[in-house]
Amino acid sequence: MAKGVEFEDKCGEIALKQCFSRKLQGDAKMKVAVIYYSRGGTTKRMAEVIADEIKKSGADADISSVSEIEASQLLEYDGIIIGSPTYYGTMAAQIKELLDKSVAFHGELDGIIGAAFSSAANLAGGNETTILSILQAMLIHGMIIQGDFQGDHYGAVAVGKVDKRCEDNCRRGAQRFVKLLKKVKSH
Ligand SMILES: Cc1cc2nc3c(=O)[nH]c(=O)nc-3n(C[C@H](O)[C@H](O)[C@H](O)COP(=O)(O)O)c2cc1C
Repeated sequence: MAKGVEFEDKCGEIALKQCFSRKLQGDAKMKVAVIYYSRGGTTKRMAEVIADEIKKSGADADISSVSEIEASQLLEYDGIIIGSPTYYGTMAAQIKELLDKSVAFHGELDGIIGAAFSSAANLAGGNETTILSILQAMLIHGMIIQGDFQGDHYGAVAVGKVDKRCEDNCRRGAQRFVKLLKKVKSH
């Protein structure tokens, strides 16, 4: 079989599987994974605020440190939100490792909603480039990403600590995430 044909067949098969599994789920509550890596607790606190607001907005949220989740478990969710501290302007190696392992399921996260958040020590310390590094991987998976015309445009950021500005943006992002999930799922 020619390579191109094989690729098209595999994509068709995956799309069909997703279609059936979502149909079977029917009106089941949407499930969102909130995954983070955190050494000092700032990114973890952001994850807690985001998961809390996801639940208040009407979806289920499972919060996990990146060490507690396998790449295969990503397939169980309608939405995936990933947070990382800024390490030299990009995601922490632990988050990169999970994303690299997700190659085993390449194509199977197509159409899933994604978002990212980050914390850094300094203003202009690389929060946005860190978020974009995570979103790049999500886009390559075929995931759906929504920006924001107000507030933190790329995803919520903390500078040094989770202050009121940061918490408001975590909650706003979570509310918009669930709103988009509901919109996509209703079609
Ligand atoms: C290896 C390493 C690299 C870092 N690089 C940056 C950086 O480029 N810019 C920045 O503002 N902060 C940087 N920081 C600080 C962390 O991003 C910041 O303290 C973050 O909030 C830590 O998150 P956590 O409390 O969830 O571990 C770095 C910290 C470490 C340990």
